[in-house]
Amino acid sequence: MAAGTPVVVDISKLELGQQITVNWRQKPVWVLRRTPQILATLNTLTDRLRDPESRVKSQQPAYARNKYRSIRPEYLVVIAICTHLGCVPSFRPEVAPADLGAEWMGGYFCPCHGSRFDFAGRVFKGVPAPINLLVPSHRYLSDQLIEIGVDAT
Ligand code: FES
Repeated sequence: MAAGTPVVVDISKLELGQQITVNWRQKPVWVLRRTPQILATLNTLTDRLRDPESRVKSQQPAYARNKYRSIRPEYLVVIAICTHLGCVPSFRPEVAPADLGAEWMGGYFCPCHGSRFDFAGRVFKGVPAPINLLVPSHRYLSDQLIEIGVDAT
């Protein structure tokens, strides 16, 4: 596959709370179908995040620079590479697991140096990763198809 070829992802079978991984430009990209509970939780985390409003413009296209960092709040599309040194974080949807502590509300945890991200890919304060996870260019071809690698208009 050519380096820049867009990838079309069928999300019709993605259940609430489920995530799939696709490859685009030799990078893993996650597509997460967020539950209403996840979306509600995202609104409670602002004070704990380094850049809750995604002010760093290079982190996402302009159409994903919003509180859910997405075109449709239900779906997160994000590059699965830690912005510290490039490890692949783990999908950790559990609330308050023993190894992540009582304040963990579900998100992505990088096992290399402990960076933490919420389910909008926003980085928490006090971890090595400097910026949020990157949102790739993408658009909806229909309700059930996302094309990664092409900007929404
Ligand atoms: S590479 Fe993720 S915390 Fe260092």
